[in-house]
Amino acid sequence: MPELLPDSQEAGGENASEPSLEEGGGTPVETLPEPQRVVDPTRPMVALTFDDGPHAVYTDQILDILEEHGAVATFFEVARNLPKAPEAVRRAADMGCEIGSHTQNHADLVKADADTFRQQIQQADENILKAIGRYPYFLRPPYGDFNDDVRRHVGKPLAFWSVDTKDWKTRNTACTVSAALNNIEDGDVVLMHDIYGETADAVAQIVPSLVQQGYQLVTVSELASYRGGMIPGRSYSQFRPA
Ligand code: NI
Repeated sequence: MPELLPDSQEAGGENASEPSLEEGGGTPVETLPEPQRVVDPTRPMVALTFDDGPHAVYTDQILDILEEHGAVATFFEVARNLPKAPEAVRRAADMGCEIGSHTQNHADLVKADADTFRQQIQQADENILKAIGRYPYFLRPPYGDFNDDVRRHVGKPLAFWSVDTKDWKTRNTACTVSAALNNIEDGDVVLMHDIYGETADAVAQIVPSLVQQGYQLVTVSELASYRGGMIPGRSYSQFRPA
């Protein structure tokens, strides 16, 4: 995954044209989900996010840790992987975790032709609907790769991150733990992958440490709704307090 600095919340500025819903992936644009859990907006919050799953073993391990600490996270699923762990995906949704789209086959949307682009978004949306009963609100573009065309046509807010643990690269629990915990701030979105045992082991240290430090672990939607909201076609990497 390339070193691609995502847009900040402020940088969404192609203000000339409203994002057109007709140009979107073809599925309805979901409204920002109403927060289901009690979150204290005056206290610091962080969103842990996991890409490329679900995984038949590690997704459940991560859910166990989250559940034990009253925490939730956001899973950006590669939809072709959904049949590998359908129960884990339903369990995540039932726990109040958020299921986002990471496309059907982990496609690079910048390089995709128009048909592939549409299929990658639509198939993932339909498969996520089948798995959990609602469309994903966010898309996280694979490889963090996007441009203005992707932004205009995707019909969803793009969710990036502000803390990159590089867990896929190091495959090392201690490195992932320190990357997640060092320099973490209120409003950060942390990128990990729920397809590695080293990451699941890291989460077992990261979650209790963040809770101990007073962070509320929330979904990206919760973070957004307490910190200014979202607009389809814009990209977001963090949600600092006002
Ligand atoms: Ni990915």
